[in-house]
Amino acid sequence: MKKNQNSEILFNEALSFIPGGVNSPVRSFKAVSSNPRYIKKAYGAYIEDEDNNKYIDYISSFGPLILGHANVEIKNAAIDALEKGTTYGACHKGEIKIAKLISRLMPSMEMVRLTNSGTEATMSAIRLARGFTNKDKIVKFEGCYHGHADHLLVSAGSGLSTFGEPSSPGVPKDFTKHTLVAEYNNIKNVEEIFNKYKNKIAAIIIEPVPANMGLIYPKEGFLKKIKKICDENNCLLIFDEVITGFRLCLGGAESFYGIKPDLSCIGKIIGGGFPVGAFGGRKDVMGKMSPSGDIYQAGTLSGNPVAVAAGIKTLELLIEKSSEIYLNLNNKAKKLKTLIEDNHKKGIHINQLGSMLTIFFTDKEPTNFNDVNNCNLKNHGKFFQTILDNGIMFPPSQYETIFISDSHTNEDIERTAEICNKALNKIL
Ligand SMILES: Cc1ncc(COP(=O)(O)O)c(C=O)c1O
Repeated sequence: MKKNQNSEILFNEALSFIPGGVNSPVRSFKAVSSNPRYIKKAYGAYIEDEDNNKYIDYISSFGPLILGHANVEIKNAAIDALEKGTTYGACHKGEIKIAKLISRLMPSMEMVRLTNSGTEATMSAIRLARGFTNKDKIVKFEGCYHGHADHLLVSAGSGLSTFGEPSSPGVPKDFTKHTLVAEYNNIKNVEEIFNKYKNKIAAIIIEPVPANMGLIYPKEGFLKKIKKICDENNCLLIFDEVITGFRLCLGGAESFYGIKPDLSCIGKIIGGGFPVGAFGGRKDVMGKMSPSGDIYQAGTLSGNPVAVAAGIKTLELLIEKSSEIYLNLNNKAKKLKTLIEDNHKKGIHINQLGSMLTIFFTDKEPTNFNDVNNCNLKNHGKFFQTILDNGIMFPPSQYETIFISDSHTNEDIERTAEICNKALNKIL
């Protein structure tokens, strides 16, 4: 019997009812010429598929699971909340508690509005920035992902400083004409855009540490210069910390780099594995949101009591463990990087920051989207499949980062490094 026969049967069935067989394209194994594994359960650092294969999981649901799968305390918090009702469509104490916690940990978020996803958070923050500044254009960086709202599905047009082109059919050009696309880590490019569109730019939205083109480091001083450009141009700085919030450190990138954005978007970790997002920031700006102001945003399930309870428990556990957890996560990720780099000096480059890490199939450090596009994607595909067959679940794309959780043990890391090294010996 094939090792993944049940997953194959399920995937073939799914293809008839779900486009591409998946409910989010990142779950597809298309980029690595394979088919997804169907998961039946997950616990701690491990995930098991319908063929009873067990994997050390580094997808971590693409970021939320900093404390590992099925953390007992988070689960119990959600069950307690569930006993009191699934949703009210009305105010409850948990909403205040989580807003206060977020605000305390990420002080730029003086006021917080909860959403159901990161996409809603970024979409709403941009609407707010436009409404507050009374300007239409925004700047985003190529390779940074901010969810799937129409005006954010853009790629760079031909030549620098041009309007972004829709990156998906179904997005009218008119919807992206106010989105200007800059190259990440290229401050000159940002300055050119501001010179060209003076007084027209409402906001810069940026992943302070991009994790959606693999993990890319911001160059020394880059984020500070971006902040300065925003301040000089009466333009709001929006940090998209949907991944980095509570992941890079307890205070996210704003605390890690000592930069106070005007607005921030978060998600993933604050839901403790449930669907939650949030945006927040300066009181004078947030005060313009409906119903205190007239910029509209809403959500039937926003602030859902079960999701909020799981989020509060996650944040409380992170606070409780904060003296050691981020250091431990960083040490484990660094260990994985070192154990691989010691054996492979050529053909790969590993970027790692805190618990995030990407193995790029290239000799030189990628610093922007173009560099990532030039990686050897074929080798990445072979690597992914080889380690998967040996019980290591990495994300099925070169354009993703792996996430290490509190549940990964040093033995998990050592075993992962051993399997990665064997795979790389074969491929490089
Ligand atoms: C940085 C960033 N922003 C926004 C989003 C969108 O979040 P969601 O998938 O919850 O809509 C993502 C999702 O991966 C993300 O990584």
